[in-house]
Amino acid sequence: MDFTGRTVIVTGAGSGIGRATARLFADAGARVLGVGRRADALKETAAGHPAIAVHPGDLRVPGTAREVTDMAISRWGRLDVLVNNAGATKMMPLAETTAEGIADLFDLNVTAPSLLSSAALPHLRQAKGTIVNVSSTYGHRPLPGAAHYAASKAALEHLTRTWAVELAAEGVRVNALAPGPTESEALTAAGLPQSAVDQIKRDEASRIPLGRRGTPEEAATWILRLADPGTTWLTGQILTLDGGLELT
Ligand SMILES: NC(=O)c1ccc[n+]([C@@H]2O[C@H](COP(=O)([O-])OP(=O)(O)OC[C@H]3O[C@@H](n4cnc5c(N)ncnc54)[C@H](OP(=O)(O)O)[C@@H]3O)[C@@H](O)[C@H]2O)c1
Repeated sequence: MDFTGRTVIVTGAGSGIGRATARLFADAGARVLGVGRRADALKETAAGHPAIAVHPGDLRVPGTAREVTDMAISRWGRLDVLVNNAGATKMMPLAETTAEGIADLFDLNVTAPSLLSSAALPHLRQAKGTIVNVSSTYGHRPLPGAAHYAASKAALEHLTRTWAVELAAEGVRVNALAPGPTESEALTAAGLPQSAVDQIKRDEASRIPLGRRGTPEEAATWILRLADPGTTWLTGQILTLDGGLELT
């Protein structure tokens, strides 16, 4: 895959799937703007990768979407790819569901990618660019104990299909990658103690037909394939990458 001359925004680029994606795009010739809250984590992503610029910011704050697109355009004058990867998970059984817990998840997993896609749209139209959203196997499979995380990803999948049709006539493609359990900071970031994180990882690996969790680099490879300008006739699709978990 060759992204020479293309520019890319990757959200959640300070760790996990986003970090691997930002680096893989840079290795493939793109200029990349990595976004996330932690400046030090973004700096580490960019270390040794001069094609990666960073913009620390909280995507739940509505003005951040405009700041991010303005920065990409003022630096490079064009935008070809938007990867809406930043997201969070949360264990929240129905009996413990709160309005604040629901709002937290939806602000980041649904509203933030919507506002960033909207801000990026004029530039994506111009470049006949593409959006890749990062969903989850649980965007189309029940996840007892974390229904609102699953529902937020289901919403993102339906936005993907709807935007794909809405923007097709303008040459903007929209697809999503739905990874299964993947090595990253996600479980720790959800506030789970290390013993619970280790237990969940063992349980997940044992339920995955291919026998292990995925790596961020495996997810990144498929994000690039979905974004590849050569993938000209693919839009509105949700690609599940989970070692077969969705089939069980
Ligand atoms: N790992 C898995 O098992 C798995 C499975 C299915 C789907 N996914 C999805 O994959 C995506 C990437 O997650 P990951 O696994 O790589 O986990 P991760 O390492 O926790 O990455 C999430 C990233 O999002 C950023 N982020 C969180 N809140 C933000 C905010 N308010 N504003 C800006 N950035 C924010 C975080 O950086 P800061 O904290 O610095 O802001 C972090 O770099 C997520 O959408 C997740 O739901 C993950």
